[in-house]
Amino acid sequence: MSQINFPNDFIWGAATASYQIEGAWDEDGKGESIWDRFSHQPYHIFNGDTGDIACDHYHQMPQDVALMKELGLASYRFSINWPRILPGGIGRVEPRGLDFYDRLVDELLEAGIKPMATLNHWDFPQALEDKGGWTNRDSVDWFTDYARILFERLGDRVPYWATHNEPFVIAMMGYAFGVFAPGIASYPQAFQVTHHLHMAHGKTVQLYRQMGLTGQIGIVLNLSTYQPKTNRPEDLDAAKRMEDMNNNLYLDPIFKGKYPEDLIAWIDKSRPEIRDGDMTLISQPIDFLGINYYTAQIVSFSPNGYMKFEAQTRVEPGWGITYKGWGICPSQLKSLLLHLKEDYGNPPMYITENGTTLNEPVDETGYVNDQGRINYLRAHFQAAHQAIQEGANLKGYFIWSLMDNFEWASGYDQRFGLLNVDFNDPARKRTPKASFYWYRDVIKTNGFTN
Ligand code: FCB
Repeated sequence: MSQINFPNDFIWGAATASYQIEGAWDEDGKGESIWDRFSHQPYHIFNGDTGDIACDHYHQMPQDVALMKELGLASYRFSINWPRILPGGIGRVEPRGLDFYDRLVDELLEAGIKPMATLNHWDFPQALEDKGGWTNRDSVDWFTDYARILFERLGDRVPYWATHNEPFVIAMMGYAFGVFAPGIASYPQAFQVTHHLHMAHGKTVQLYRQMGLTGQIGIVLNLSTYQPKTNRPEDLDAAKRMEDMNNNLYLDPIFKGKYPEDLIAWIDKSRPEIRDGDMTLISQPIDFLGINYYTAQIVSFSPNGYMKFEAQTRVEPGWGITYKGWGICPSQLKSLLLHLKEDYGNPPMYITENGTTLNEPVDETGYVNDQGRINYLRAHFQAAHQAIQEGANLKGYFIWSLMDNFEWASGYDQRFGLLNVDFNDPARKRTPKASFYWYRDVIKTNGFTN
């Protein structure tokens, strides 16, 4: 048995996202988001679920912050629902929406928990989608204007800001594969969306500096590793192409001021329109990189499809596949962090999401004895710890998620929470799982015995 200790200033947190937990989808003057529209249409979401009520967090926020305090969180990562602030996406501000986040931030600070606010975790205003959404270059200004409202109101009290959550998912799942809102299937649109998301990020970072705010601002990317299935050249190329598509299309513009050349050549006529000055705007220095890590991939050439690769989830020996179908691969978290250290200048990094779903029984009191989640988290913490020991500049770790919630197209079937939520109960009763208590001890002792 050995004791694993994290650095003294290491930040232990948990994460959620507005659409996944808040509910109150049309209350207090809130406008419609693309996820409201998407989930209200048939066949998009498993079981026909919607986020209309979700965890009812909008009405239970103070109790939820009390649970975070009991857990001992140093930081809580949440996101802001854009049409709650601006029902039409631009123009008139809804004060009741702004007040909600103001109260949340104050509750957190009073509980000794540092807020980390994500500006865009996918619930984009439907009114702006009707104007072309992120395919419209005006989206850069729409987003910056929205950010300004929040910086003005909360900038003095929120120490960490993230612009977008997983621009890959917004662009590709939303606009290329059509499986997430807004449900469009067009590669050219998706690459243009990527470019505008990048620009909106850069312009917002620039605004944050201009406003003289003293917290930190960064972005959250879903990143992974891509192992070629064989050493055949076509598999090596396919793995590189997938890494370019999923990681480097997002990392390189920000950290290197350019798009991956091989990928741009591959997509050829689908390449985005890039104007003079865009790349400089995009590559503003950021204060931290947020990393969402869940699984890794094994990639091979495929004669089918536009990108001509196919991936299978990677499973590390001794581990299995989660209920979501994602292979468990803790060692690749370490590899990823060391890769970012070597090839991207070792920026300050946070794991902004990591966690798992299980299919474990809930007892009659609402308790879940989720030993599988504890094993998953312990192994990933250990991999992160090894990366820190080898010099990775990792500053903190946020579990996805504080509570079971609306898991996008999977609805309520996939439960990532440390808190069990009873979705059959109108009161959405929360019950701490075994992992909640285990994580509480990790936070308290800043580590664990292995
Ligand atoms: C990420 C999302 C997050 C959650 C997890 C499981 O892609 O950022 O909202 O759904 O996956």
